[in-house]
Amino acid sequence: MKFFVDTADTAEIKALTPTGLVDGVTTNPSLVMKSGRDFREVVAEICDIVEGPVSAEVTATEAAQMIEEGKSLAGIAQNVCVKLPLTFDGLIACKALTGDGIKTNVTLCFSANQALLAAKAGATFISPFIGRLDDINVDGMDLIREIRIIYDNYDFQTEILAASIRSANHVKEAALVGADVSTVPPGVLKGLAHHPLTDKGLQAFLDDWAKTGQKIL
Ligand code: G3P
Repeated sequence: MKFFVDTADTAEIKALTPTGLVDGVTTNPSLVMKSGRDFREVVAEICDIVEGPVSAEVTATEAAQMIEEGKSLAGIAQNVCVKLPLTFDGLIACKALTGDGIKTNVTLCFSANQALLAAKAGATFISPFIGRLDDINVDGMDLIREIRIIYDNYDFQTEILAASIRSANHVKEAALVGADVSTVPPGVLKGLAHHPLTDKGLQAFLDDWAKTGQKIL
């Protein structure tokens, strides 16, 4: 599974890159607003920090303007992936931008049929939002399962990018289902390494090591 970090906070991204876990980054207008930064500047900076795909979302809603914005965003860096909402116009823009060799991430996906259309439009990535379905008492992971089955039935090359991830269990379940990517908030990504028995066991090792009076260096 690939991990993308779901943030526009460059400090958080820089802190995580030494782990080798950061295969890409996803942003959206809300995350950009939260960063307080100029959109194009923060995208350019993220593209310098991370080699993998960096999703930058258009804000136009009409296909022609989405395409124009997408081409402009793709010009920021070679690893920009243009994020498009899953609307009819977004699908038209996806088809056009993909046809121009620009990576696309079709976002705000909440149904298997939407995901089917995105694959047909040639999307590089599809972003089904797990957490927001859970929020309305719908099992978001069921959507990932359905998309996985449909994409495998027809050998679609669109990658399932599990999004709106709120917990370590979301990551585990998405991996079990076979999502290609999980885009994860920095705190959730860091939390994946944590287990209380690991902490307890390490402390016991260190306590016993101290009793030997030895040093490795
Ligand atoms: O990548 C999409 C993600 O940022 C949305 O997450 O928690 O706002 O549903 P959330």
